[in-house]
Amino acid sequence: MQILDSHLNRDHLEVIFKEAAAFEKSPYIVTGAQRIILATVFYEPSTRTRLSFEAAMLRLGGNTISIPDAKHCSAEKGETLEDTVRTVSQYSDILVLRHSLPGAAKLAQEFSECPIINAGDGSKEHPTQAILDLFTIQKHFKKIDGLKILISGDLMFGRTVHSLLNLLENYEVEIWVDSPKELKLRGNWTIHECATTVGSPHPPAAEILKQVDVAYMTRMQKERWPVGMTQKPPYFSINKNNVDTMKEDAIIMHPLPRNDEINISVDKNKRAKYFEQAKNGLYVRMALIKMVLGL
Ligand code: NCD
Repeated sequence: MQILDSHLNRDHLEVIFKEAAAFEKSPYIVTGAQRIILATVFYEPSTRTRLSFEAAMLRLGGNTISIPDAKHCSAEKGETLEDTVRTVSQYSDILVLRHSLPGAAKLAQEFSECPIINAGDGSKEHPTQAILDLFTIQKHFKKIDGLKILISGDLMFGRTVHSLLNLLENYEVEIWVDSPKELKLRGNWTIHECATTVGSPHPPAAEILKQVDVAYMTRMQKERWPVGMTQKPPYFSINKNNVDTMKEDAIIMHPLPRNDEINISVDKNKRAKYFEQAKNGLYVRMALIKMVLGL
């Protein structure tokens, strides 16, 4: 099994969810994992993704080596991604890579002596985040089919959204998207657009918020914007004034880090699932490491 992008089918996902749920119940050392070395090579900042992968490997009984700031490592001396991957993959059994170049994980796999896991490639994909997002949804609702989902924020540059939309293609869901018009989603997914994206007469995000089961919020990806685009355009947020307009059983998700698209006053609301979502990342990544290594 490879996780270079989010082209996983429903069967794959169900196996991952089952494994992750088992790890959540009882984190245990997997036979054969004790000798494993997982390398994390991150050319972009990370808190949750890198540390949950490393924690997952340690929980499975293996070890980790890491270049947390690869941009300022040998890359600063002119080393290419290919050469770094060639080298690090000789020291490890599995390599988790984050890079700003779309398609970086696939490129790296060509030069790697061990399996690569894509931990984010520019604004293109972040498949393991999307898997843990779906695991969180499945855990809460005990299903994914039939749900109504609002995805809001910087949909042009937010990679987690692109991977999530790919995985949601496996299910019968109704998806609404909302973004500033400068940061619209590009791609061929079956979606409905809110007014903040396309202008009236479409319903505004505030109206759709009242109807959805899942509100998936994302931050403005300022670091990826074209030169010259410096001012944040107005965008939708969840705050103390609108959170209780949501359905009782609805959940609010965010890949994190959040800015002000979810006000901190919402954190104690029963619908706020974003920190639990981050915790689920540990179990999902334990499952993924086990499966990629065939343990
Ligand atoms: C996301 C990412 O790196 O794409 N963070 C994460 O991995 N949880 C989201 C973001 O940076 O906005």
